[in-house]
Amino acid sequence: MKFSYVNPTQIHFGQGQISTVATSIPKDKKVLVIYGGGSIKKNGVYDQVSAALAEHTWTEFSGVEANPTVETLDKAVIIAKEQAIDYILAVGGGSVIDGSKYVAAAAMYEGNGWDILIGKHQVTEAIAIGAILTLPATGSESNSGSVITQKSTQTKLPFMADAVQPKFAVLDPDSMKTLPERQLVNGLVDAWVHVCEQYLTTATGTMVQDGYAEVLLKNLLTLAEQYDARDNNEWRSNLMWTANQALNGLIGSGVTHDWATHMIGHELTALYHVDHARSLSIIQPSLLRNQIEAKRAKLEQLGKNVFGFTASADLAERTIVAIEAFYHDVKVPTQLTEHGDDKVAAIDTIIKQLEAHGMVALGESQAITLDVTRQILEDAV
Ligand code: NZQ
Ligand code: ZN
Repeated sequence: MKFSYVNPTQIHFGQGQISTVATSIPKDKKVLVIYGGGSIKKNGVYDQVSAALAEHTWTEFSGVEANPTVETLDKAVIIAKEQAIDYILAVGGGSVIDGSKYVAAAAMYEGNGWDILIGKHQVTEAIAIGAILTLPATGSESNSGSVITQKSTQTKLPFMADAVQPKFAVLDPDSMKTLPERQLVNGLVDAWVHVCEQYLTTATGTMVQDGYAEVLLKNLLTLAEQYDARDNNEWRSNLMWTANQALNGLIGSGVTHDWATHMIGHELTALYHVDHARSLSIIQPSLLRNQIEAKRAKLEQLGKNVFGFTASADLAERTIVAIEAFYHDVKVPTQLTEHGDDKVAAIDTIIKQLEAHGMVALGESQAITLDVTRQILEDAV
């Protein structure tokens, strides 16, 4: 085991914690508040932010869409540059926080911001960011990742940079009260797949990372089982903290990562506007079956320690069935059914896009070539 680990984001967790923004952002900073399509105006979050920023100089940019686009975000980059913004407060779900990371980095760069996504510009500096999370799912509030879409080319790519990791994140479970069912379930599923992509790889004997990953998976199963009792602070708090811990760097330290499900899923979203979490539930069961030999040891471990299965020759197979059943229970799709009738043409298009984006050797051992991905997609029909 070998790794360096730090998570520098200060977390303010719990009801009423949005007020901490007043002291988390230095008073001499010029703040740009970035948010999405307006959900924060309906649930009181915007009012709490306004109250917390009463003694700050601030302006706002709204309209960041789900799966944020560079076309929209570049308008915020212009504002940030013109108004010499030196703090960004992202208020929303993963899309708003990811979008804010892009704005924070692009505003400190003279070239075309898309250069960041294609690796032409390595981000080393960015405007400071704080985040107020309203949708537990991505972990973006305390990690250094961001996923941005270029609408004109239907391209969705990630970038990672320490400089864009939020300085602080407010996780107030009350802000989840207005979440539509669809988004709540998406959050559960996205967090589940985040843990899987860092756990269902090679057996590395990492007891802390494995054990903690298993607790997070068990939490998500329990929260899904207790879904009818979701209208309370304890349920919301547990989902919010579990989703955060699923992708804050800890369980990913010193282990091998997969991320193939995410990279293939990004193409489904960019091409067909499938919700991020649902792109994952469509791809993952088929991918796990395809990669079962490489992942057998960890699938068996998951079956035993998370689902409580007893040993058997087909334990890995049963574990995949159980994962699929979990998706069916929360009513997310597990097949490529949402993309019109011509599945063959859709698969061709997805493969072409993956090739164009250099996603030609995915997975923990780079074994998922384009031919393997084609098979995974065909098996998901
Ligand atoms: O725009 P508003 O009006 O706020 O509405 C949003 C949006 O329509 C709504 N919403 C959010 N909080 C709400 C609410 N509605 C009512 N009440 C609330 N409290 O929910 C909709 C979806 O929001 P979005 O931010 O798109 O969802 P999510 O948090 O699932 O983020 C998905 C994005 O994150 C990326 C995905 O690729 C996708 O673009 N990811 C980022 C990661 C990271 N940075 O580490 C990792 C993830 O794997 C993921 O890839
Ligand atoms: Zn995800």
